[in-house]
Amino acid sequence: MNIDFKAIHNAVTLLSEGKLVAVPTETVYGLGGDARNIDAIQKIFRVKNRPPSNPLIIHLSHISAIQDYARNIPEAAFHLAKCFWPGPLTLVLPKHPSVLPIVTGGQDSVALRIPNHPVALALIEAFGRGIAAPSANRSGMLSPTCKEHVQQGLGSLVDFILEGGPCTVGIESTIVSLLDEQAVILRQGHILEADIANALGYATLPKHSKTKIETPGSQFKHYAPQKPLFLLNTSELKIQIRNKMEQNIPCAVLSFSLKQNDIEQITTSWIQLSDDPENYAQGLYAALHELDRTEASCILVEMPPQNAAWLAVLDRLQRASAT
Ligand code: TXA
Ligand code: MG
Repeated sequence: MNIDFKAIHNAVTLLSEGKLVAVPTETVYGLGGDARNIDAIQKIFRVKNRPPSNPLIIHLSHISAIQDYARNIPEAAFHLAKCFWPGPLTLVLPKHPSVLPIVTGGQDSVALRIPNHPVALALIEAFGRGIAAPSANRSGMLSPTCKEHVQQGLGSLVDFILEGGPCTVGIESTIVSLLDEQAVILRQGHILEADIANALGYATLPKHSKTKIETPGSQFKHYAPQKPLFLLNTSELKIQIRNKMEQNIPCAVLSFSLKQNDIEQITTSWIQLSDDPENYAQGLYAALHELDRTEASCILVEMPPQNAAWLAVLDRLQRASAT
């Protein structure tokens, strides 16, 4: 990818002035602000309408910078960082006293990540310090995986959007807490529990097993389109499509195995994603954004397979369908 260094320069100037810049990453686009500037961080919370208790991830460009943002860093953190950074992994560590409490939602821990996107890395490198960035959407809504999604969702509330093409991973990073002796997976993502366990040489703990770690961002309803979304197994999906058609209710369908041709009824909009979990994840938010813009009254989603490779996708769909 060719990097537009004029755009990077412009973004650095804006960040230095406490303004917000949307940054492409391999997972989703982030709404970036200077992690050391309280006004910028307040603006992020305002623009997203995000509860102040929900902490932000600080994005870095070098592993050595961990030490400026975290304290008492366990060896496991450096090990996981070397294995997976730059990449879709966020590490939760004890916070360095210099990190603004507003960034961490008042918690004594901090979330850090080095994203694997040339534009994000060029920006962080040129800015010279950490960029706090939640996903560049309004709280609870669908995450953006291209520049247009950010424009549609935030409009003029963001000062500048860096172009970085469509996100290659497509869902938010895996979050691993290293606050306890054993690593805990706080959010499922592209990097699987088994990948983390392999790297560490021991099993990770599932969330909430014996930990009191707060992940305020994991309140149930999240990542949701505007239209009601229903998650259905394949046979229920066929029945629902038939019911809606008989009642003349236009519905949109997102499937992975069921083909539109397999159904006699004609629905207004149908997207069939891949039956490979990584490809599916990459297209998930773009598909939901597209179906959400149709005339359909609801989005019917075919339940993906319920196994480890699909956990991150299942998590996002379950939250999107929660009421
Ligand atoms: O892939 C990603 O992680 C994207 C890109 C932009 O990097 N960012 C992202 O940020 O998804 P956001 O704010 O939408 O989600 C961050 C999650 C939230 O659920 C938040 O509660 C959790 O990380 N988090 C942040 N700091 C934490 C901390 N100190 N302890 C526990 N959870 C934390
Ligand atoms: Mg988010």
